[in-house]
Amino acid sequence: MLNGMRLLVGITGGIAAYKTPYLVRGLVKQGANVRLVMTRNAVHFVAPLTLQTLSGSAVLREMFGTGEGSSMSHIEWAADIHLMMIAPATANFIGKMANGIADDLLSTMILAVEAPILVVPAMNKRMYKNPAVVRNMDVLRGRGVHILEPGIGELACGEEGIGRMADVEEIIRTVRKLMVPSGPLYGKRILVTAGPTVEPIDPVRYIGNRSSGKMGYALAQEARIMGASVTLVSGPTMLVPPQGVNVVQVQTSLEMQEEVRKYFPDVDVLIMAAAVGDFRAESVLPEKIKRGSEPLTLKLVPNPDILKDLSMHRTRQIMIGFAAETGHLMDEARRKMNDKGLDLLVANDVSENGVGFGSDKNRVIIMDRKGGMEETDILPKDQIARKILNHLTRNFL
Ligand code: CTP
Repeated sequence: MLNGMRLLVGITGGIAAYKTPYLVRGLVKQGANVRLVMTRNAVHFVAPLTLQTLSGSAVLREMFGTGEGSSMSHIEWAADIHLMMIAPATANFIGKMANGIADDLLSTMILAVEAPILVVPAMNKRMYKNPAVVRNMDVLRGRGVHILEPGIGELACGEEGIGRMADVEEIIRTVRKLMVPSGPLYGKRILVTAGPTVEPIDPVRYIGNRSSGKMGYALAQEARIMGASVTLVSGPTMLVPPQGVNVVQVQTSLEMQEEVRKYFPDVDVLIMAAAVGDFRAESVLPEKIKRGSEPLTLKLVPNPDILKDLSMHRTRQIMIGFAAETGHLMDEARRKMNDKGLDLLVANDVSENGVGFGSDKNRVIIMDRKGGMEETDILPKDQIARKILNHLTRNFL
C-alpha cells in the first residue's frame, strides 16, 4: 500500500519512542522508504542502530557535520518526501513547531518540508491538557498539520488517562489515508504507457527494442502516490507492477493502440512513455524460419502513430509524449511536440552514458507548448517522474 513512498519520520525524546522500531518495521513492510531523524533526547529511549537496521538507511541526528546528515543534505531530504511524521511528538517539540523555532536538526528540517505533516503526540495527561499545549496544537491544526490524537489508557508514568501514543497499526492506517486521497492529482485519471512493444516475425522471433519500462512504471507509481487513478498499458518488461495501479499487459504496437484507445476517452491525461515499435512484419510466418545460406529479406510495414492519431481526436485530454534521441535533441523534440499536437514533451539523449534505456537514472528536458522548459540533473527515474508530474500539475491541471 505504501510502495515507493518516501516518509521522513522524526523521533523526539519521549518514552513512547520505544515503540518506533515497530512503527518503522510496519512502514517498511508496506513498501515505504523510511528515513529517520532523531532529536538528542530521543536517543535516550531508543538506539539509533536499531532504527538504522530496520529502515536500511542512516539515522540523521546532528545539524552540523560532514557526510550524510550534513547541512545540505537535510534540506534535500526535506524537499524530496511525500509525508513527514513526528512520532512521538513531545509537548516541547509541538511548542517549537507552533512557534517556528529551529534550534536542532529536526525542528530545522520541518521548516523546509512542503509535504503534508502528521504529528503523533505522546505525553502525560496533565501536560496534554495544559493550555499552552492545547493552544500550540490548535496553531498547528490551523496550518493544516494533521494530528493523530493520543489514546486513553495506562501511561508510562503510571497514571491513567489521555496521552499515550496512538497504536502502531493506527498510525500506519492514518499514513495510508493521508497519502492517497490528498495528493495534488486526486480525482484525475491518468493513462500511462511503458516498455517496448514486440513485433513477431515467426513463432519464436520478434523485433523489439531496448526500453526497460522503468520510466513509465515510475510515472505510474508517482502519479498514484500523488492521488491519481492510474492505468498502465505495458509492453513486456521485467518489472514488478506498481501497487494500486490498473496494469494492462500487451505485446505488439497494435495491441497497445487498441488498449490505449479503449481507456483514452475517460482519462484526463495520456502519458506515452512506451517505446512503440515503428514497424511490424507485413506477415507473421506460421512456421519457424529455417536457417539458410541466402540473405533473408523481411518486409516491414509502418505501425500507426498512437499518440498522433489520438491527439487528433482528443476532447479534453492533456497529451504527453517522450522523445528519445541520439542527436539534435532540441530540434527533434520541438518538431515532435508540434507534429504530434502535444502539450508536454519529455526529451532525453539516449546516447549519453549512464542514463536512458535500461538505466535507473535519467536526465531529461521537459518542454511544453506554452514555451515552458525545465532541464533536470541526472536523477533516479522516480524523481524525474515527480518533476514531470509537477510540471504537468503546475501548468495544465
Ligand atoms: N509513439 C506512438 N506511436 C508510435 C511511435 C511513437 O505513440 N508508433 C509515441 C511514443 O510513445 C513517444 C512519442 O510518440 O511518446 C515519440 O516517439 P519516438 O519514437 O521518439 O518518435 P517517432 O514518432 O517514432 O519518430 P522517430 O522514431 O522517427 O524519431
